Parts: sequence; C-alpha cells; structure tokens
Amino acid sequence: MPPADIQTRVFAVDPWKPDPETIATAAAAIRSGQLVAFPTETVYGLGANALDEAAVAGIFTAKGRPAHNPVIVHIASADAAVSLSADWNATARTLTAAFWPGPLTLVTRRAACIPDIVTAGGDTVALRVPAHPVALALLMEAGVPIAAPSANRSSHISPTTAQHVLMELGGRIHLILDAGPTECGLESTVVDCTGPQPRILRPGPITPSQIGAALGLALASLAESGPVSGGPLRSPGLLPRHYAPSVPLTVTPGSAADAVQQALAGGQMVGWLAVEDSLPITHSRLRLVSLPRNAQAYAHALYAALRQLEAAGVDCMFVDAVPAGEEWLAVRDRLSKAGGQPRQR
Ligand code: TXA
Ligand code: MG
Repeated sequence: MPPADIQTRVFAVDPWKPDPETIATAAAAIRSGQLVAFPTETVYGLGANALDEAAVAGIFTAKGRPAHNPVIVHIASADAAVSLSADWNATARTLTAAFWPGPLTLVTRRAACIPDIVTAGGDTVALRVPAHPVALALLMEAGVPIAAPSANRSSHISPTTAQHVLMELGGRIHLILDAGPTECGLESTVVDCTGPQPRILRPGPITPSQIGAALGLALASLAESGPVSGGPLRSPGLLPRHYAPSVPLTVTPGSAADAVQQALAGGQMVGWLAVEDSLPITHSRLRLVSLPRNAQAYAHALYAALRQLEAAGVDCMFVDAVPAGEEWLAVRDRLSKAGGQPRQR
C-alpha cells in the first residue's frame, strides 16, 4: 500500500441538478489522470480515465485490488459502446435499448483501444451507462470513458454514501462528489453477452426475468446456477467471499434469534441484522439493526447497516434469512458472499 498522502477534496453536489463548475473541476481531474469517486444509482464508483493506463493503475493501488479483477468502464451513452467493443452484437443492443441508462453492465469483446489493465489482460470488457445525473454529467464533461469499480477497499462492502468512500479511501484519492446516498444500494447486474447464450455473472437490480423478457429467453436458471468451479475466472465478483464486513457473518435459516442468544451467552458482542417483523431481543452486548421486508428497501439500506454494525465493534454478525423469490436474488447473493469463507487462490 502506498502512503495515504493525497489530499482528498469532497464536493457536495445536487443529485438532480449538479453544479456545472463542480462537474467541470471533476472532469478536468479525470482528464489529468486523477482519481474521482462519484455517485451512481447503484453504489459510489472510483473513477479514472479508462484510456489512461497509469490512471487506471492508480485505482488498483488505492483499492488494493488484485490485478486479475477487471474493472467496469462507464460511458455516457450506448453510442460510445460501439467504439469500445469489437462485437456489439444483437444481445447487447437489445439489452442496452431496454435498460440503459441503468444498473446493467454488459461484458463484450473488447476493442483494441482499451488498455490491458482495464480488462485484467482478458479479451472482454464490461460496459455500463449509469442512471445518475451526476455520473452522466461527469461522463459527458470528461469526454472519455471512465473505468470505475466500487469505491471501497478490495473485498470490503461497497460504499453507498460519500462518507463511506472517505472513510476507506481518504488520503488515497483526489476527489469525491457527494450527492447523498445511492438509490439501489447494490451493484449492477452483470451480463456476459459474448457467448451463444447470454449469462448473468452477477445478479443485481435488473432481474433475470426482466433480462429474459427483453431477450425472449428464460434466464432464471442461469442466474441461480452460481459460480462455476474450475476453469478460468469468469468474473471475480463471483468469488465466494466478496462484499464482506471485517467480522464473521452468518445468515441463519429463518430468524437469527437463537444464534444471537447463543453468541451472547458465549460472551460475544453481537450484531443482528433483522427483518423488521423479527421479534427483538435486548441485551447490553447486542447491536440490532432492522431492515424492511421489501427487497428494494432492504437492498438500499443493507451496506450501510453492515457498516453500522461493524463500526459498533461487534465480534460477529447474524442475519435473518431473507424471503425466497427473484426480487431478493441479488440480496441473497451479496449476503452469501458477505459470509463466504476466504478463498485460497
Ligand atoms: O454497480 C456497479 O456495477 C458499480 C458502479 C460503480 O458502477 N461498480 C462495480 O464495480 O460494482 P466492481 O469493480 O466493484 O465490480 C465489477 C464486477 C466485478 O465482479 C468484476 O469482476 C466484473 O464486474 N467484471 C468487470 N469486467 C469484467 C469482464 N471483462 N468480464 C467479466 N467480469 C467483469
Ligand atoms: Mg466492488
């Protein structure tokens, strides 16, 4: 890790009507090779000029991200995808017409202009047009594609506020655009469009049914099949542990009340992420956060809740199982990754 010696500036921006001068400053920073964290509708991204290899290398250093994990390239409109992809095929065109701007990332064959560091040396690139006025204004003003993973330290929880970004990356990046909490709260759906059949590599706000309906295909089974074992790493976001808090997290079947009681009896300081209708317990060593039994509202609040429990200094976290059903798919995926065992690679 490099010394944290960069002065990080934080600019507040109106999420709906960003001030042009602030956007111009951030865009100039991007063009000059600096790192700028910005809001999207999913989570905050850590951006750099995607065509500037040294700038993108700065993202990997700031995050402590392994070089084998490629980054998403954000663009201002679907038109820009054509010059960044070597095969902008019918699947990609149909999906972008249906869902861009929006929380959908498409993996496509890369064009030669994309530096190796962006794709982790692979022959594909992930592209997305975010649906956030600040992100779109920044992309348009910068006039370059912006490579941006989530603005957190590698493997940790993605940031849904500018404060989260500042806590993790303050002193390592140049600028943060603060437009308040993000709307979705979970990262975009990633779809691989390079094969004969599109594949969902990471579930997210756009559901398999929505994707299937746009393409006239049944995709639900592909999304539920989970990470492929063996073979090349299709998408490092599929690794069993990712998006994780710094203490052990267990998702229990049904309510976590019994597991919580047991851990309390064992003398631990315990965090409980409950759904709102769970019967609460009170205890001096228990920190309880209740989230709504509504998939969108739960997703919106999840990462902030995990950070809140982490900051409270708990030794372990227990999470009530969330409902079955497709609208909860992305939440289940992130919870299972938050609790995954560290993988030896
Ligand atoms: O919502 C989002 O997608 C946020 C915002 C900032 O746009 N970004 C984000 O980026 O979550 P990141 O880097 O944290 O996650 C990107 C995911 C990772 O799982 C990465 O492995 C995968 O996309 N990915 C990137 N390029 C890929 C490629 N060429 N092929 C397969 N997977 C790729
Ligand atoms: Mg990430």
